[in-house]
Amino acid sequence: MEINIQRKEAIEAIKTVRNLKDLDAVFKRYLGKKGEIALVLAGLAELTGEQKKVIGQKANQFKREITEAINGKKAELKELALVESDDMEWLDITAPGKKMSLGHLHPLTLAQRKASEIFQQMGFEVVDGPEVESEWYNFDALNVPKDHPARDMWDTFWLRQKKLLLRTHTSPVQIRYMEKRQPPLRIIAPGRVFRYEATDASHEINFYQIEGLMVGDDISAANFKAIIQEFLRRFFNKPVSVRLRPSYFPFVEPGFEIDMSCVVCAGKGCSLCSRTGWLEVAGAGMVNQAVFKAVGFKPREYQGFAFGMGLDRLAMMKYKINDIRLFYEGDFRFLKQF
Ligand code: DAH
Repeated sequence: MEINIQRKEAIEAIKTVRNLKDLDAVFKRYLGKKGEIALVLAGLAELTGEQKKVIGQKANQFKREITEAINGKKAELKELALVESDDMEWLDITAPGKKMSLGHLHPLTLAQRKASEIFQQMGFEVVDGPEVESEWYNFDALNVPKDHPARDMWDTFWLRQKKLLLRTHTSPVQIRYMEKRQPPLRIIAPGRVFRYEATDASHEINFYQIEGLMVGDDISAANFKAIIQEFLRRFFNKPVSVRLRPSYFPFVEPGFEIDMSCVVCAGKGCSLCSRTGWLEVAGAGMVNQAVFKAVGFKPREYQGFAFGMGLDRLAMMKYKINDIRLFYEGDFRFLKQF
């Protein structure tokens, strides 16, 4: 009697099971070592002959049925492949993949790497220098003596330690390099520089420059023009014209300002180039003999050119960015576009 009720329950339980793990629980409950059948069989000892026979038979019959039902269900579950394993892990192969969010390089890093790569292809070595500089490397050795009005060209962050400052340009790397090496030499020095200035769309208190220096026996301004033009052509991936305008920097003589034809209007005149057709990209010149003297080269022994480009400006032109401050704000809406 009792066994009959259990039978219904058991069959029902087996029917409703949805995975192998639950099926195993049902198996244990009825057919396990301490399961219901095991209990009934253990109790037989206490019964008399006839009862023993009847109940024993029923119990064995029950066992067969349940075993059969469980095996049937097991096969069914496996066939449906609803369940991969005992731990119920589902694999929905039609679900769309989860996108991993990857970091990426900052636009200024991209621009700096691109520029370095181009100069390296043209035989320039990439060198580095400190961001905290001495007054000597940042100014005096570059022919900008104390109290000379030219110092006003660079609004400087002075540090408390005497004669230390945050470098206002990458030009001191020229000095550091020439102190250790003799010409012929061909280097660029990309890096961060600092200016004690109010910020606006085209000024930041820190930004990036690429310094260039090429010195030998007969390096000329014509060599410079060819190299800078080829660099700009490769950097912007389009033909460009370059013009040199006379200008003044203490560490060169003569000095010039470098303009390139506007990357947007190709020289016709637009809002980016203020209708002039030209964009200013660098300062440059023939290295002043006073600079060679400061690093201990013999007077009039060598000649060469130097230049300093604003990397932020180049990147702004390449990626069509109209505010330099965007590079430094860390706003994902901006950064994610690169
Ligand atoms: N150091 C200058 C600046 O930051 C840029 C510059 C001009 C660098 C002329 C040079 C150069 O090497 O020859 O304003």
